[in-house]
Amino acid sequence: MRIAMIGTGYVGLVSGACFAEFGVEVTCVDKAAEKIAMLEQGRIPIYEPGLEDLVARHRAAGRLRFSTELGPAIDGADAVFIAVGTPSRRGDGHADLSYVFAAAEEIARNLRHPALVVTKSTVPVGTGRRLARLFRRLRPDLAIDVASNPEFLREGSAIEDFMRPDRVICGVETEEARATLAALYRPLNLIETPILFTTIETAELIKYATNCFLAMKITFINELADLCEVVGADVQQVARGIGLDGRIGRKFLHAGPGYGGSCFPKDTVALLRTAEAHGVALRLIDTVVQVNEARKRRMVKKIVDAMGGEVAGRRIAVLGVTFKPNTDDMRESPSLVIVPALQAEGAEIRVFDPEGRREGEKLLPGVVWCGDPYEALTGADAVVVLTEWNVFRGLDLERARALVRRPVLVDLRNVFDPERAIRAGFAYTGVGRGAVSAHRPEPRAATGDER
Ligand code: UDX
Repeated sequence: MRIAMIGTGYVGLVSGACFAEFGVEVTCVDKAAEKIAMLEQGRIPIYEPGLEDLVARHRAAGRLRFSTELGPAIDGADAVFIAVGTPSRRGDGHADLSYVFAAAEEIARNLRHPALVVTKSTVPVGTGRRLARLFRRLRPDLAIDVASNPEFLREGSAIEDFMRPDRVICGVETEEARATLAALYRPLNLIETPILFTTIETAELIKYATNCFLAMKITFINELADLCEVVGADVQQVARGIGLDGRIGRKFLHAGPGYGGSCFPKDTVALLRTAEAHGVALRLIDTVVQVNEARKRRMVKKIVDAMGGEVAGRRIAVLGVTFKPNTDDMRESPSLVIVPALQAEGAEIRVFDPEGRREGEKLLPGVVWCGDPYEALTGADAVVVLTEWNVFRGLDLERARALVRRPVLVDLRNVFDPERAIRAGFAYTGVGRGAVSAHRPEPRAATGDER
């Protein structure tokens, strides 16, 4: 089979490379000539574990190509995927569909055969229907079928998520569209992945509902963490205790400084806007958005309190600035709220992040970038963990204690065993760990298994 993937951002590139792994011939198209040139030299514009190897392998095999030319790429393709960005529209939080419609118009102008156009980008309910109308208007001569196939790829484990998904969602209107998508995802039959065929509207909504539910789950445990701190309970154990109930599930119950990233913040707000436009109140999601925004700001107070209120002129070592580990992505990262607020209080900020520096340098002016965690915490008056990179779990706390000026450790990702940190001489503040002195918390696996 042969497909074209329009947009070589995060989703397009990962999906294109993974379809090639499924044995499909893929051409990835992007307007950004420098990006395509880079990809043609075997260089990858984003950091995603395993992606470089996968792209290299399938480029060498001739199954994965890159091009700035949409016309030849879609000619004869069994399906054309739209995987361009749908950022938040400035000001109002609606998803900005201008890239999607620009791509669709170009597809319509260039198509020479009846084809299936599939949205992989996250698009508000009703977009598929609008695209179908657009195609009928621009190309009444051609049967252009539309489908919705949302992605559920987590940054940092996107390849694994594509190759071994919990499920695949396909919103289709015709038997042909269903057959094409079923054929493209056939390799997943081997691992018995459920493939759910729905209407286009349902598929579009499943994507938003998934991300909103997960954002709500995180926000739920974050608020419980606040309560744990004052009543002397341990949120890690609460999460485990409730998570073992199969109806709740263990994942996405890790308390922290608030969710960030390219999806949750944008998709929660976009679903609210869609619901509003249809006169429906989604009060739970509305609250989730507000609680999460306030939380990022509240973390500043937590840090200031841990430092005894004295921040001006003090040096703070920040470990991790990306919105989560195994990515260089800084979008909506809590660090973008917390670091500038600490600077505004007069703190000097030294940062170490294994991958975040390139992006971070643009977004966090005035911080000192360090080559490793120990360099960052030398002479620090407080050490603040903002992202749970694995390298921080293995930090030598005795060595760290010897390097800092004041032993204040604010662990906003609960990376460290509080008792270990306290034994090493640190004053420890975690998230929701009100039971620190009462009993020994269970050590967490570093696998991310419980997220
Ligand atoms: C998410 C969805 O998981 C994915 O299915 C969707 O397609 C895109 O959005 P991603 O944004 O890459 O993926 O990251 P994810 O691992 O879901 O984390 C999102 C945010 O939530 C991060 O800031 C993370 O730190 C936070 N989080 C996650 C928590 O604070 N606690 C958790 O238990 C899990």
